[in-house]
Amino acid sequence: MEAPVYDAIGRGYARHRMPDPRIAAHIEAPLAGARRIVNVGAGAGSYEPADRPVVAVEPSRTMIRQRERGPVVQAVAERLPLRDAAFDAALAVLTVHHWSDPEGGLAELRRVAPARQVVLTWDAPVFHRRCWILRDYVPEIAEQASESVDVSLVAGALGSDDVRPVPVPHDCRDGFLAAYWRRPTAYLDPSVRGAISGFAKLDPERVERAMARLAADLDSGAWERRNRELLEVDEFDFGYRLVVAGESPWEADPRGSADDARDSAKRNRG
Ligand SMILES: C[S@@+](CC[C@H](N)C(=O)[O-])C[C@H]1O[C@@H](n2cnc3c(N)ncnc32)[C@H](O)[C@@H]1O
Repeated sequence: MEAPVYDAIGRGYARHRMPDPRIAAHIEAPLAGARRIVNVGAGAGSYEPADRPVVAVEPSRTMIRQRERGPVVQAVAERLPLRDAAFDAALAVLTVHHWSDPEGGLAELRRVAPARQVVLTWDAPVFHRRCWILRDYVPEIAEQASESVDVSLVAGALGSDDVRPVPVPHDCRDGFLAAYWRRPTAYLDPSVRGAISGFAKLDPERVERAMARLAADLDSGAWERRNRELLEVDEFDFGYRLVVAGESPWEADPRGSADDARDSAKRNRG
C-alpha cells in the first residue's frame, strides 16, 4: 500500500478533530438499530457509536495510533478485506474525497453492508459559494482533485435520494475546513490548519500569505463587514450533506422500531 497521505498530515488530528455532538446526532439517526457497523476511513474514531461493536478500516498508521478503541483493519476503502454482507451498516465520514477510486470504494461499502450506508460529504458548489475561508482566502483548496468529489457522485454511486443537510454549529468541536466560520482567528493557528487536509496539502508560503490577508482583514474590520450576517446565527448550512442509502430496511433488527423500518422502506423505494 502506498504511504497514506494522513501518515504525514494526520499528526495531532485527534486534538482538533473531536466529534461534535450535534453532528453525531445526524450521523447516529440512520444507524439506529444497526448492530454491526464498519467505519471506513475511520481516522481516530470520531462518530463511531460507543454502545455497539464497530470495526474500523483505516489506511494510515498515524491515524490508527490515535484511536482509543479497536478493532481496526489497516486497508483502503477500494479493497475492503471483509466478507459480503458482514455488517448491518457502513459509515464513512469526510473521507470519500481522499479515495483514489470513490465509486469503487462506495461499491465496497454496498458489498459489505448492503442494508445501509451512511456517508458524510458535501455539496461542492454550495460549499465553494458559502465557505468564506475557501472563497475569499484559499480558493486553491477548491482546485485540489479531492474537491471534485461531491454529494451527487456519492448519492449516485449509492443509488440514494435521501440526502440530509448537516448544518455546522458556531462552536463546532470537529475542526474541519468550515468549522471555524464564526471564530475566524482560529485559522491563524498553524496547528488548527494542520488538522485540515485542504490546508495541509497546499504550498505553505501561499497559506502564509492568505493568513496574513485574513489577519489584516480582521484588524481592519473588513472581515466583519463582509460576514456580518454570519455573526447573527448560531449554525449555518455550508453544504455538508449526509447521504443515507441501503437496499432494505432493518429486517433482522430486534431494536429498530417498526416506524424506523417503514420510513426506511419508503425512502429506499424512492
Ligand atoms: C478527514 S479524515 C476523517 C477521519 C474520520 N472519519 C473522522 O471523521 O474524523 C479522512 C480519513 O480518510 C482516510 N483515507 C484516506 N484515503 C483512504 C482510502 N483510500 N480508504 C479509506 N480511508 C482513507 C485518511 O487516512 C483519514 O484518516
